[in-house]
Amino acid sequence: MRLIIHENYGKACRWAASYIAGRINSYAQNKPFVLGLPTGSSPLGIYKEFIGMCKEGKLSFKNVRTFNMDEYSGLGASHPQSYRYFMMENLFNHIDIDLKHIHILDGMAKEPERECKLYEEAIAAEGGIELFLGGMGSDGHIAFNEPGSSLVSRTRIKTLTEETKAANARFFDGDISRVPLTALTVGVGTVMDAREVLIIVSGRNKARALKAVVEEGVNHLWTLSCLQMHQRAIIVCDEDASDELKAGTVRYFKDIERQAIRS
Ligand code: GLP
Repeated sequence: MRLIIHENYGKACRWAASYIAGRINSYAQNKPFVLGLPTGSSPLGIYKEFIGMCKEGKLSFKNVRTFNMDEYSGLGASHPQSYRYFMMENLFNHIDIDLKHIHILDGMAKEPERECKLYEEAIAAEGGIELFLGGMGSDGHIAFNEPGSSLVSRTRIKTLTEETKAANARFFDGDISRVPLTALTVGVGTVMDAREVLIIVSGRNKARALKAVVEEGVNHLWTLSCLQMHQRAIIVCDEDASDELKAGTVRYFKDIERQAIRS
């Protein structure tokens, strides 16, 4: 695992956006680049960078297919708190992607289990995900894989924890009772199948979880710790998020990155 610590959120996002743009632009395969995407406040800076790069002609999403991580149950495309709405507002409406090429789980699906199964099939039909961009919940979850989720789980319906509902209540006028009780989410195994995973983590409120994910063992209580078992995983964070890491851990990962830049 690479851990790349930047001085602040803006620098972390610029690094992550330019890394992903480089991967898309240099993708030499004769097939589309399949990109997994998250919602939440963490990726917003990266999305702004993508939009800027597209406007300047430095990046194009014409050869990109996207799969989002998750969606709240019971919220349709026109609901301002649905993840589909979020993605349209914060990214897709501003870049040159063909809307036929975006995939987001349908929170209104009449048969949600079938919807989840079809989602896994759609990912497989595109040849799997090349790079999954993600964020992390304050309890160390990835997508909506709450503590205790199976580390080999696939796309399915999950019940949200009180901590996640409380964290996301800010998007529902601070009213936790309006946060949906369940969501459709890719599984930990779905994320792990991606050929590369890049996670953006920002803020002091994520420091405890980042410590567990990086310094402790693989553990279903911090589902992002699964990354320790991935062959190509990067966590990009700001200094606030690295606050609880041991000084030696920070020094070690910073040294490795410095050496990589020199070589
Ligand atoms: C939700 C989403 C996750 C996201 C997390 C953190 O639980 N399902 O994908 O990583 O929130 O969100 P934020 O980036 O706003 O802290």
